[in-house]
Amino acid sequence: MSDNKRILVTSALPYANGPLHLGHLAGAYLTADFYVRYKRLTGADVAFICGSDEHGVPITIAAEKEGVQPQDIVDRYHNINKKAFEEFGISFDYYGRTSSKVHHETSQEFFKHLYDKGFFKKKTEQQLYDPKSNMFLPDRYVKGTCPNCSYEEAYGDQCEKCGSSLSPTELINPISALSGEKPELKETEHWYMPLGDLQPKLEAWLEDKSDWKPNVMGQIKSWLNDGLADRAATRDLTWGVPVPIEGAEGKVLYVWFDAPIGYISATKEWGQEQGNSELWKDYWQDKSTELYHFIGKDNIVFHCIMFPIMLMEHGDYVLPKNVPANEFLNLEGQKLSTSRGWAVWLHEYLEDFSPDLLRYALGATLPESKDSDFSWKDFQARVNNELAAVLGNFAFRALSFTSKYADSKVPSSNELKQIDNDALNAIEVQKEKITKAYEAFRFKEAISETMQLARIGNKYFTETEPWKTRNSDPQACNNSLYVSLQICAALSVLMDPILPDSMKVLRQQLGFEGEVNWDAVNSSMLTSGNDIQPGEVLFSKIEDSEIESQMTKLEERAAANNPASKFEPLKENIEFPDFMKMDIRAGEILTAEKIEKSDKLLKLTVDIGVETRTIVSGIAKHVDIDQLKGQKVSVVANLAPKKLMGVKSEGMILMAEDSEGKLWFVETASEAGSTIT
Ligand code: MF3
Ligand code: ZN
Repeated sequence: MSDNKRILVTSALPYANGPLHLGHLAGAYLTADFYVRYKRLTGADVAFICGSDEHGVPITIAAEKEGVQPQDIVDRYHNINKKAFEEFGISFDYYGRTSSKVHHETSQEFFKHLYDKGFFKKKTEQQLYDPKSNMFLPDRYVKGTCPNCSYEEAYGDQCEKCGSSLSPTELINPISALSGEKPELKETEHWYMPLGDLQPKLEAWLEDKSDWKPNVMGQIKSWLNDGLADRAATRDLTWGVPVPIEGAEGKVLYVWFDAPIGYISATKEWGQEQGNSELWKDYWQDKSTELYHFIGKDNIVFHCIMFPIMLMEHGDYVLPKNVPANEFLNLEGQKLSTSRGWAVWLHEYLEDFSPDLLRYALGATLPESKDSDFSWKDFQARVNNELAAVLGNFAFRALSFTSKYADSKVPSSNELKQIDNDALNAIEVQKEKITKAYEAFRFKEAISETMQLARIGNKYFTETEPWKTRNSDPQACNNSLYVSLQICAALSVLMDPILPDSMKVLRQQLGFEGEVNWDAVNSSMLTSGNDIQPGEVLFSKIEDSEIESQMTKLEERAAANNPASKFEPLKENIEFPDFMKMDIRAGEILTAEKIEKSDKLLKLTVDIGVETRTIVSGIAKHVDIDQLKGQKVSVVANLAPKKLMGVKSEGMILMAEDSEGKLWFVETASEAGSTIT
């Protein structure tokens, strides 16, 4: 059955404000690429579209931080990210960008079309305004306390702690992210999408989407249960697509309004590149096209509610057939975080390992239905125990044995036994399971069922013992090799969506010259008598030391990004009068002696100007007792006396504890008795 459907696959447009890490790859790109490569192999007509999201507050804030223009930021990261995707074999047909002319025009036309249909509700309202920076504070330009969970670092568009979506005026104690000042309220006008009114229409459309993933449907249901709120499609900002109507000067389209239209603009540019400026219409306007959005879970509301409503109300467009969103990927048990440096950057990964290894390891642990974890140990185990020990080993054994003992030619089979036929049949059986898994967007399952075929092959090779039958029963030996090579050939196509580079090499080694096509996968892909060209092992094992060095890199970077983490967290604030109750004096140590039976405590006499005190201090391990006489110190003089190991201590010497736990005197050069405040 050849599949010649027309399919449009999109991956969420990443913000061009920083490099990409593993979490990005696992969220919206790798799965899309697996799917697209699989579909292309089935003969489907696929367009795979992505690009940079270059508007919105994340971009302008990144630019402000660096003191450069937003355009500089997006130019830099557009190129870096485009290259990273290419290197990982993410096979986009086109990687566009939302600062392009075509995109500006397309999103303006889209807005204008909806506007002319009377779609938007114009509202005059009070918005947060920063008089110092002279601008309104939409989205991430304002921070404050979340009204739902009291998290103090919530953004004007979203609380990252409890996940609720917010508008700036909902924040308690808002402050401007630009000036740190408390914003004022100022009147402004905006054009709202009436999502609330359209909820019934959206619900009707969602009715037959029972095959959508439960994690996706669950989130949609929860939005719908809360009742959809109208959402502004415009912003008071200068960076973005200008709102194309009169009376909207100085306003731009809301980034979540223009970005998804970026999928359409990029498809247009792709067609233009091929000299067919009408091509995009086949994918966006022909109702038989199947549209799939691959995204991470934080994008669900935009792709399952807002954008479908935009498309529906526009009227000329196809709506998504499915939105197979992934959950989040953690790294070594912790949330990935760019700001805390807890991430594996794609360009860094490539300095040490090949793309296929990560495609496989990440694919096998995808956060398909719940959050999942990537760890370097698991990466090593996947590579060593599965890619190297099973798939690579099997192919290498079959190929090298054939080259040594069968003249480097695919032998002919004869009088196949049950065990041989069972192994050959496994090709069809596994292929069917793998196909089903891809069709249902269950990529982890597709991968494990494909690896299962390699396991079957490897086990078959071991059990039929061609190294023995070579002398005792040459035809049985030939049969073993024939069957094993056929399984390798099937694998070289079935595993192709996951491991495109390695499977290409495997096909070369097998001398496979047939069409690389899902339909053509069967148990007789190789012709007896054809030459094979064995080569290197496909996957080598990863040493423990390589994994340790990745862990060190990760931990060092996290520490460098977060120097505060080595120290104690800050204590709660105290009031000034409480602080003033403390009487801290400059002092000087007069004598020091050990306290018997204690390896920590020293008995000191200290001159604090007004009198001499006996103080027991737990510093024995950190100081040289013979050097203490004359040491300048700071003393808490009004701490209530306390007996320690039988000695009455009349005060406390202040010590600083560094990140390694070593103690240091807090010294002052002033004369003993001086007050310290
Ligand atoms: N830039 C957004 C993000 O990284 C995704 C935009 S997807 C699009 O979360 F549909 F709006 F393009
Ligand atoms: Zn919250």
